[in-house]
Amino acid sequence: MPIQKVEKIWMDGELVDWDDAKIHILTHSLHYGCGVFEGIRAYETDSGPAVFRLTDHIVRLFNSAKIFMIDIPFTIDELVDAVKETVRVNSLPSCYIRPIVYYGYGEMGLNTVPCPVNVSIAVWPWGAYLGDEGLKHGVRMKISSWQRHGLNSMPPAAKGTGMYINSSMAKVEALKAGYDEAILLSPQGYVSECTGENIFVVRNGTIITPPVAAGALEGITQNSVMTIARDQGHGAEIGNIARSDLYIAEEAFLSGTAAEVVPIRSVDDRDLGEPGPITRAIQTTYLDAVRGKVDRYKGWLEHVDE
Ligand SMILES: Cc1ncc(COP(=O)(O)O)c(C=O)c1O
Repeated sequence: MPIQKVEKIWMDGELVDWDDAKIHILTHSLHYGCGVFEGIRAYETDSGPAVFRLTDHIVRLFNSAKIFMIDIPFTIDELVDAVKETVRVNSLPSCYIRPIVYYGYGEMGLNTVPCPVNVSIAVWPWGAYLGDEGLKHGVRMKISSWQRHGLNSMPPAAKGTGMYINSSMAKVEALKAGYDEAILLSPQGYVSECTGENIFVVRNGTIITPPVAAGALEGITQNSVMTIARDQGHGAEIGNIARSDLYIAEEAFLSGTAAEVVPIRSVDDRDLGEPGPITRAIQTTYLDAVRGKVDRYKGWLEHVDE
C-alpha cells in the first residue's frame, strides 16, 4: 500500500513540507543501517486525536539509542511534544507515526562517534497492517528459515533500523510461500517473535509470550495485552515457547502497534481454527481502549489537543 502523502514532516525541530523532507545520498545511516526508530499510532477519540502510550514509545526510542550509544539531541519531553505537534498540524484524526533517529551527512566510516545525529517525525494514514480479513479471521503463519539474531550480534531490546533486514527477509519468504506473516526462532530454537509483532499462545487460560532473551522486542502492545488479559481474569506470563507449542495451541495471536491484535489461524499449515474467545475478548478491548472507549485504560491515551 503506497504511503499517503500529508502536509508536514518534523525534521530536527522544524516542520517542513512533505516534498522537501529530503536527505543527502551520503547520509551515514543509509549506508550502515545504524539508526533507531519507533512505530506509534494516534486514534480518533471523542476528545480529538490521541496518541497511544506516546511517552512509553519515546522512552523506548531513547533506550534503543542508549544501547547503540547514539546521543539524541532532544529531550524525551521535546520529542513527545514534537509528535503531538506533527499530528496536530497535519489535521489527521488518526494516523501512524514514525519517529526516526539517524546518523546524518558529514562523516563516513564505521566509527559513529563523530557523526551528526538527526531526528525526524513523519505521520500518515495507515490502515490494518495485516489486513481487515486478518483482524477478523486470523492470519496464516510460517516459521521462517531465517533465525532471529543472536543476543550478542544484535540487541533485541533495541528497535534499530538495520536490524529489520532480518525481518524483511523473513517477511518476503513467508509472502512468496503464500503465508501472511513469518515467525522467527532464536538461535537456541525458541520461538522469538514475528517480523514486526510479538507472539502469544494461550494455554490453560494463560497467555504466554517470549522474553527479550529469546530475541523479542518488549512490545508496548504486548504489555497492554498482558494488562488487559489479567484484568479479564486470565494469567499472563513471559516465558519460552517451543515451535510445537504453536502447532497445538488452544489459541494464538500476535500484537504490535501497526498490526494491533491479530488472531493466528494456522502455523505451518497446522490449523488453529477461527479466533478463540480469549483472543477475541482481548482484541475487542484493545481496539476499544485505543479509541478511548474503556475508562480503565484512558491513562494510556495522550491527547494531541490538550
Ligand atoms: C520486531 C518487533 N517486535 C515487536 C513489535 C511490537 O512492538 P509494539 O507493540 O511496541 O509496537 C514490533 C513493533 O514495533 C517490532 O518491530
